[in-house]
Amino acid sequence: MDTIEAIKSRRAINFFDPARTIPREKINEIITIAGMAPSSFNLQPWEVVVVTDIDRKEILKKCASNQPKVAEAPAVLIVIANPGGLEANLDRVIDNMADLGYLKPEDRDKTKKGPLTQYHSRESIERKFWAIKNTSFFAMNFMIAAKGLGYETHPMDGFSQELVKKEFHIPEDRFIPLLIALGYPREGLKLLPPKFRMDIVDFVKYEDYGG
Ligand SMILES: Cc1cc2nc3c(=O)[nH]c(=O)nc-3n(C[C@H](O)[C@H](O)[C@H](O)COP(=O)(O)O)c2cc1C
Repeated sequence: MDTIEAIKSRRAINFFDPARTIPREKINEIITIAGMAPSSFNLQPWEVVVVTDIDRKEILKKCASNQPKVAEAPAVLIVIANPGGLEANLDRVIDNMADLGYLKPEDRDKTKKGPLTQYHSRESIERKFWAIKNTSFFAMNFMIAAKGLGYETHPMDGFSQELVKKEFHIPEDRFIPLLIALGYPREGLKLLPPKFRMDIVDFVKYEDYGG
């Protein structure tokens, strides 16, 4: 499926076929493609917990307002934004840039200071937004890649941050922008027509916001 078709035909699927599973290799393939998303300084501040076990999915469902699709989909991703992804990944990101010729080897240390200054302290609200912003690109890539490979998805923010963190042992400083259910549509599922999207005249301005 080409990219435009995948973007246009993706839908949030409410009813998954609970009888069909997806091999771990396939899930990893989609995650690997999603990881090609752009990120600030290539710092990739995302993490994922993939939940496939039936009992673990039941626990996740309880954390997510009992949305049935959480248990029915063969896999649900807990998509995690890590504000500390900057410090965790900085060395290898900059070393890789130096190795590939993006910067002079002697500029490594100087270059490492850039993101540390630009993206505020690890505990700041700006850093949290930074992590969430970058992780959102990963999440969208995941849904498009899944569609392109013949799967359906459903993004969800109807869940308790606190409960998901507690049940899945996710560190307190992380933020979970969304869960994504992944699977096949239930057999015979008839989708309602795609929901409206705003016309670009409703949200696009050229050159200036106009006060
Ligand atoms: C961040 C995010 C959170 C969402 N949370 C939920 C949710 O908790 N439950 C739900 O049924 N749908 C949820 N949705 C799905 C939206 O309702 C859906 O994407 C939107 O209505 C447009 O429909 P479409 O994706 O089929 O085009 C969420 C979507 C996004 C992007």
